[in-house]
Amino acid sequence: MNAMHRDLERLAARAEQEGAALAASDPARQRFHLQPPTGWLNDPNGLCQAGGRYHAYFQYAPFSPDGSGVRHWGHAVSTDLIRWQRQPCFLYPDQPFDVHGVYSGSALVEEDGISFFYTGNVKYSGDFDYIHNGRAYNTCLATSRDGTAADGKRLVLSPEDYPAGLTPHVRDPKVWRQDGRYYMVLGARTTADAGEVLVYQSPDKLAWTLLNRISTPAPFGYMWECPDLFELDGQWFLAVSPQGVEQKGLDYQNVYTSGYFPLYGDWRGECRLGEFVEFDHGFDFYAPQSFRDERGRRIQIGWMGMPDAGYTNPVQYGWQHCMTIPCELTVREGRLLRRPVEETERLRGAPQALPLEPGAEFEGERFDLLLSPAKGPLRLTLRGCVTLEYSDGVLSLRVGPQGGFGRENGVRRAAVRTLRGLRILADSSSAEVFVNDGETVLSTRYYPAPGQTRSGIQAGTGTAVLYPIE
Ligand code: FRU
Repeated sequence: MNAMHRDLERLAARAEQEGAALAASDPARQRFHLQPPTGWLNDPNGLCQAGGRYHAYFQYAPFSPDGSGVRHWGHAVSTDLIRWQRQPCFLYPDQPFDVHGVYSGSALVEEDGISFFYTGNVKYSGDFDYIHNGRAYNTCLATSRDGTAADGKRLVLSPEDYPAGLTPHVRDPKVWRQDGRYYMVLGARTTADAGEVLVYQSPDKLAWTLLNRISTPAPFGYMWECPDLFELDGQWFLAVSPQGVEQKGLDYQNVYTSGYFPLYGDWRGECRLGEFVEFDHGFDFYAPQSFRDERGRRIQIGWMGMPDAGYTNPVQYGWQHCMTIPCELTVREGRLLRRPVEETERLRGAPQALPLEPGAEFEGERFDLLLSPAKGPLRLTLRGCVTLEYSDGVLSLRVGPQGGFGRENGVRRAAVRTLRGLRILADSSSAEVFVNDGETVLSTRYYPAPGQTRSGIQAGTGTAVLYPIE
């Protein structure tokens, strides 16, 4: 542990201690979503379960909530994926190879401990564009016995080790073990401005050799961040968060997107990517990661935020951003379904059947609402702030005119041919809308006026059950 580490550790602990009361006094503070104790949060990192405990690490800037701070890895643990217990900061930018940020990465749980692979961000000062020059992204390894404290860090790949034809933008290692070997995927931006994924292998987690480069025949965005490669029900999926994909109809409405390609063939050699499917059609969803838990479930958590968007969140309580609810991924007809893990049902209070006639209202800041509309248009207004409407095969989500923080300038739409069911999970300042068992999801942050606790619901026929969440 060096002096930089000791200083950052002390300062982060103090910032958290001093910021806790202010953050807790925020009416928009979430109750069942993972959020930073103070400061800024972005991507989930190192998601895993070890010895029964779930670990969620995250991109974290404890000293400012506006996104300008140098990234650390925050840490929280849980036994049920719902109640998260705050842990001391896990990784600090304290080495020459990660001094400008310990960027995103993953965890690998083995019998003798946990290995964490992450990106060490280094930015040189000078006249650089920071796209083609001026920075280094190092692939680094930190180890820990039980995930509580890191006991060592080392550099495993530096820029000279990456293949030719890439910009310095190579990051976000996801590592797993398979058939006695280790594999890693990294997201990259080529010098021709195309996103791609690098596949590496290693016998020992230290020496890595390039095995493959996977991309689309025509560029699909200029950069692929946060790759994730996994098999589910015999099908391989490559998930990425591409930047620079132009809006096309109801797809890619946000500045950046994230989703998955079904992958056909062998990702170690000859393979082909199928059609890209977005994970979410709302305003706030990016950089998700998944892991297999001890029960064998593939669980995914995303950042309920969007970088470089034309909208924001309030920061006067000293914190910003949260994670999505953890979802279980399953496969139906070759596509991934995203459904809140069953543990979320433990949050539910006593069910109330809601009337659906015009003018019907219900009360509550946080709730889990199940709706099975049969016929007729549907219109929901959540706490005077979010409007959800279904007609002509399109589900639209609007936020505002108050409490949208810029989201009121846009609408998010998803094609839903037949609406069989909706589940809305609302926390203090977020709504996650799961359509038809998680075939389509729309997630958004929103900020209702204080005391605005009434929601309106109108549907032709169907049933609605409201579970308040206390
Ligand atoms: C995605 C991302 C990653 C990077 C991290 C930095 O949101 O840009 O590519 O590792 O955030 O915080």
